[in-house]
Amino acid sequence: MSQSHAAATRRRLPNTILAAIGLGMCLSASPVLADEHQSAGAMGSTIGYTCMGCHGVAGEGSGNIPRLAGVPQEAIAGMMLAYKSDGQAGTVMNRIAKGYSDEEIQAVAEFFANQ
Ligand code: HEC
Repeated sequence: MSQSHAAATRRRLPNTILAAIGLGMCLSASPVLADEHQSAGAMGSTIGYTCMGCHGVAGEGSGNIPRLAGVPQEAIAGMMLAYKSDGQAGTVMNRIAKGYSDEEIQAVAEFFANQ
């Protein structure tokens, strides 16, 4: 009884290991795949949501926080790149802009330009 149970356990073990490895690969690979397959539009909106807490849910701005909605893509991207290179001084935008690649800046600029 205990011997056959042990044999059954041995037979099942490889599948368990394979399943664990497979699951690990899926979990580690999926964020990379998600990035690779994300369109510029999806990337722009994903990043754009992180800006809305300050710039407003429609990018409308308020108080000292400038409007982004409807501002041309080149203008938004140009300002972001200026903050990123410290060519333009700001309170928070330099730090924020440094967190994004030029490609991500173009995508989020396009997102707000189209709001
Ligand atoms: C913590 C609040 C905050 C967040 C988050 C934030 N911003 Fe800003 N943004 C500001 C403030 C404040 C300014 C004014 C410049 C400064 O003080 O840095 C500004 C200015 C800007 C400007 C210049 C607009 C102009 O007409 O001068 C752009 C472009 C901009 N932000 C884009 C973005 C984008 C894109 C994101 C998201 C990736 C973002 N911001 C996230 C607060 C924020």
